[in-house]
Amino acid sequence: MIRVGIFGITGYAGYELARWLERHPAAQVAWAVSESSAGKRLAAVVPGPLDMPLLAAGQADWGAVDVVFTALPHGVAASTARTARAAGVRVVDLSADLRLHTAAAYAQWYGADHPAPELLPTPYGLPELNRAALVDASAIANPGCYPTSVLLGLAPLLKAGIAQLSAPIIVNSASGISGAGRGLKQNLHFVEASENFSAYNIGRTHRHVGEMEQELAALAGAPATVIFAPHLLPVQRGILSTMYVQVQPDLNLATIRDLYAAQYAGEPFVRVLPDGTPAALSYVVHTNRCAIGLTLAQPGLLIVTSAIDNLIKGAAGQAIQNINVMFGLAETLGLR
Ligand SMILES: NC(=O)c1ccc[n+]([C@@H]2O[C@H](COP(=O)([O-])OP(=O)(O)OC[C@H]3O[C@@H](n4cnc5c(N)ncnc54)[C@H](OP(=O)(O)O)[C@@H]3O)[C@@H](O)[C@H]2O)c1
Repeated sequence: MIRVGIFGITGYAGYELARWLERHPAAQVAWAVSESSAGKRLAAVVPGPLDMPLLAAGQADWGAVDVVFTALPHGVAASTARTARAAGVRVVDLSADLRLHTAAAYAQWYGADHPAPELLPTPYGLPELNRAALVDASAIANPGCYPTSVLLGLAPLLKAGIAQLSAPIIVNSASGISGAGRGLKQNLHFVEASENFSAYNIGRTHRHVGEMEQELAALAGAPATVIFAPHLLPVQRGILSTMYVQVQPDLNLATIRDLYAAQYAGEPFVRVLPDGTPAALSYVVHTNRCAIGLTLAQPGLLIVTSAIDNLIKGAAGQAIQNINVMFGLAETLGLR
């Protein structure tokens, strides 16, 4: 049995982790830490089906766990990851702190010095694209929610070298409101968000652009430019990314589809939809799946749609998939 510690269990991602781990046959939560509610019980802080004591960070018994999940804000998570590694405990970090490979890239996109640069580079935990680097890893950087949808949607094109990277890849994404976490912000209030649909941080300002470009360049072996328009969608959970990619003009959809089928053959969590069927949140919410749709809009212009549940394949489910890989378990364990 893998013994797990959770930092940030009162947050949306941390709580989702605890819910899935409750059903995991080979992992169990040994303890959970809360910065703001230590000494209380989880059910008193987050009304819901789960209950357990909430510890202060100083009470964490490192000898009682094999791995910890840091479901904490970026800037906070890396220091906890450093403490865990010093205690010989493995880490899956759900924040952005370990995703960029250099402290310079972190400073560029997050506007701060990296809190634990000695942990970089950390293997990027998107198992479908980077599985070999995750087996036996001591630390894994769990990908961002938007990047997960985008990278799974684009990877076959970039690996095969058929995306024309002289042109930027245009990505329009819409995320359910849980993607912003449980902190209070005016634009997330029910009255502001419901029956509304708004873009934010458009262009190349959203922090996930750096992460997407890093991983797209690794797949393509050449730099890739992303123009990104994230939107706030008034649903609880789910991300739909629509991506416009220039490809070689002589390619037909059947050839492109074969590439996707080959890339994702045997992948239990990725489903390539029939030609012309766009992905939708209904294919994926409450699951660890990614659904991908392919449409050739005109010769040389492919539209890829990719849907995930931001809290599951975009966070907690992917983190559990990552410990399954890390500890040599069946990758689907606890995730069906
Ligand atoms: N929401 C998503 O869809 C999603 C997807 C992918 C990745 N992520 C990433 O996963 C991490 C957690 O996200 P989340 O959505 O679960 O966030 P959240 O709902 O805001 O929860 C974060 C938790 O971190 C704890 N925390 C500890 N120190 C803190 C501090 N100094 N300031 C604020 N909170 C602190 C808080 O719980 P205690 O006070 O109880 O410790 C809080 O509940 C973030 O880095 C986020 O970017 C989120």
